[in-house]
Amino acid sequence: MSRKGISVLFVCLGNICRSPTADAIAVNLKNKFTFINRIDSAGTASYHINEPPDSRMQQVARDNGIEMSQLRGRQVEKQDFYEFDYVVAMDGDNYSNLLKVAPADGTAAVVKLLDYGEQEVENVPDPYYGGYDGFVNCFDIIDTGVINFFEFLSQKG
Ligand code: 4NP
Repeated sequence: MSRKGISVLFVCLGNICRSPTADAIAVNLKNKFTFINRIDSAGTASYHINEPPDSRMQQVARDNGIEMSQLRGRQVEKQDFYEFDYVVAMDGDNYSNLLKVAPADGTAAVVKLLDYGEQEVENVPDPYYGGYDGFVNCFDIIDTGVINFFEFLSQKG
């Protein structure tokens, strides 16, 4: 761990459902995991640049005490692979897309959120075209996933 702490960028496809949720949950955990320095989120796609998170996702987050309406969509940039210690994909598609755009000399570790800790699924499911239950399920998976990832980082030292 660097003296400045650890910086983490969460990434999904659109940056309006899964990664802003991870972002807001992570910011909320900063008091517990004090080594976390900088948190942000981005999408591999450009569909929703400057848009707020999906209203269904915002509602589920709010029901769980997490406010995310202030966040705005952005696309992953080359610079992110130098500025962040970890670039964390929500699913396998995000992960392979990130590897395609990562510069060869990028310093970030590109990882998948659910590679840390035990959960029933390996990927955070994309809730965008589904019903409300999908957003609730998605929130719960991300919530546990972010805590597991931060526990891993704290044990790594
Ligand atoms: P996210 O969800 O990747 O979790 O933000 C999606 C948001 C938008 C779209 C797909 C997934 N879309 O096709 O516009």
